[in-house]
Amino acid sequence: MTFDQLETPVPLVDLDVMAHNLDAMQGYADRHGLALRPHTKTHKSVHVGREQVRRGAAGLTCATPHEATVMQQATDDLLVAYPVVGHAKLDRLFSVREDVALRVQLDSSHAIDELAAAAVRHDRAVAVTVEFDAGMHRVGVPSLDDAVALARHVHANPPLEFSGIAFYPGHIREPVTSQDAALERLRHRVAEAIEAFTEAGMPPAVVSGGSTPTMWRSHEITGITEIRPGTYVYNDRTTAEIGACAWQDCAFSVLATVVSTSVPGQAVIDAGTKALGREPMRGASGEGWGALLDRPHVVVSRMSEEHGILDLSGSDWRPQVGEQVRVVPNHVCIVTHLNDVIFGVRGGDVVTSWPVEARGRGYGQLIGV
Ligand SMILES: Cc1ncc(COP(=O)(O)O)c(C=O)c1O
Repeated sequence: MTFDQLETPVPLVDLDVMAHNLDAMQGYADRHGLALRPHTKTHKSVHVGREQVRRGAAGLTCATPHEATVMQQATDDLLVAYPVVGHAKLDRLFSVREDVALRVQLDSSHAIDELAAAAVRHDRAVAVTVEFDAGMHRVGVPSLDDAVALARHVHANPPLEFSGIAFYPGHIREPVTSQDAALERLRHRVAEAIEAFTEAGMPPAVVSGGSTPTMWRSHEITGITEIRPGTYVYNDRTTAEIGACAWQDCAFSVLATVVSTSVPGQAVIDAGTKALGREPMRGASGEGWGALLDRPHVVVSRMSEEHGILDLSGSDWRPQVGEQVRVVPNHVCIVTHLNDVIFGVRGGDVVTSWPVEARGRGYGQLIGV
């Protein structure tokens, strides 16, 4: 199959680039003695999860119980790195096969109590990592004393098992070469956390962290045992812009068709917000909502739902109506989630495809019909 046989807009993944990204990350983790537990929120596909596990990932990370029920097809070791709160979420989490090791990352006694009650009901051990705030100010307890108290609360609630501590350095989004000061602060914060738990008689077996913007510098965080990057599998415009990957490491693009060139200085493609999302560059410099894979200086400057406007003011290139282009999105995880199927390509050929099984909320059954 060739590209012109696909109805656009449609997501493409360059298979060789993805393989390179997977190998490079696993190689890095192996060289530094770190367990790699990739976050599957980026690809949401069993096929890609299996590729990660086949290369040596210690297990997989999920954000939702629905992702966990899907990713149990790829691994028998799952982390939900998100507080699982509420009966519906817990019921779904405990529907995961008995032989799959489950770990939950949380930051409140409420979440511990609910998880413990569900674990008792299901007579199932669940590991817990307590999340502390390492600077992102999203989830994670700010006080290390409070984090230690949560770990004690886990200990007091078998069949929950305290397995360690966790953080997500999502606040570090500056270019890789400018991360020194932020990483030094993070290193200090993690050392303090390890010390607090050790002094409390609970040295953490697992110290889980890592992100794509900091992925090649994770080993500088003394004491870290596990990393959970997600975006690295496909990469995106933001990741390239900050230098965490090269432009040619962007495996994912949205194939689109030029549908209008009526207005001078621009070309309109059939990929708008419903194909590209509307994510800003998040910390990196750069205008627009995506850039062309073959012409990174041409960006999607405006969008409607089904229209993307390519700004041609900085380019001599004048595409024809009907011409196909490939757009690298600003933030790939959002774009994956907009699609049912990904097409794997090599050169100009479409050679395979796989479903995005973990997209959506997993409500297969309808009510009242
Ligand atoms: C808890 C957690 N861990 C790990 C990640 C890794 O993601 P990324 O590869 O985008 O840095 C994320 C991303 O949102 C996350 O929320």
